[in-house]
Amino acid sequence: MSNVIVLPQTNQLKGLYTIIRDRNTKRSDFIFYADRIIRLLVEEGLNQLPVEPAPIETPTGSTFSGVKFQGKICGVSIMRAGESMEQGLRECCRSVRIGKILIQRDEETAQPKLFYDKLPADIDNRYVFLLDPMLATGGSAAMAVDVLKERGVPEERILFLNLLAAPEGIKLFTEKFPQVKIITGAIDDCLDEKKYISPGLGDFGDRYYCI
Ligand code: PRP
Ligand code: URA
Repeated sequence: MSNVIVLPQTNQLKGLYTIIRDRNTKRSDFIFYADRIIRLLVEEGLNQLPVEPAPIETPTGSTFSGVKFQGKICGVSIMRAGESMEQGLRECCRSVRIGKILIQRDEETAQPKLFYDKLPADIDNRYVFLLDPMLATGGSAAMAVDVLKERGVPEERILFLNLLAAPEGIKLFTEKFPQVKIITGAIDDCLDEKKYISPGLGDFGDRYYCI
């Protein structure tokens, strides 16, 4: 599980999750507090990137042994719900390139279906922040990683950011893609009979965009 990174379970984070899990939370609050968690996930993703030495001179004339990121990054959101995470990434990485993959889970079978992708041309030279708030069975995210790998992105340059993960999805993902880093805010108990995360928060896309 060394490639599974869970945000520190601080009281603040527990409070944020309490709000977004609550079925009585109204949409404007759901968006506000989910956005706060997304920001924490993006910051943790950035913590995971390698750096190289970058010595600089300070206004006092001293040299400071600084660092800078080694490579370039981009975001790839799994539509629709993953698009909710784009703004959090933009707030941390000015004018970051963002690609899209449209994958939808069949509501009856929970099987993912790929409809569309549009990715930066040089994605094989970048670290990729894969964005989707929910890792349930893992089928959708695994399909997205297959697309990224077909475009030449090595597993070790993919960081999958999600708000909520089920053990079933983590198992599938870590077995299939041992080099991909998963950065999550919470690991829940299990999937229910409809393959929703339990206790979960319901349908993230509906709560963020519709209801
Ligand atoms: C949700 C979610 C993930 C997927 C997770 O998307 O955003 O993409 O389900 O489930 P899985 O791990 O079992 O594949 P959904 O297909 O419901 O579409 P949406 O983004 O439009 O809500
Ligand atoms: N997609 C969601 O939005 N929620 C779940 O619990 C599972 C898949």
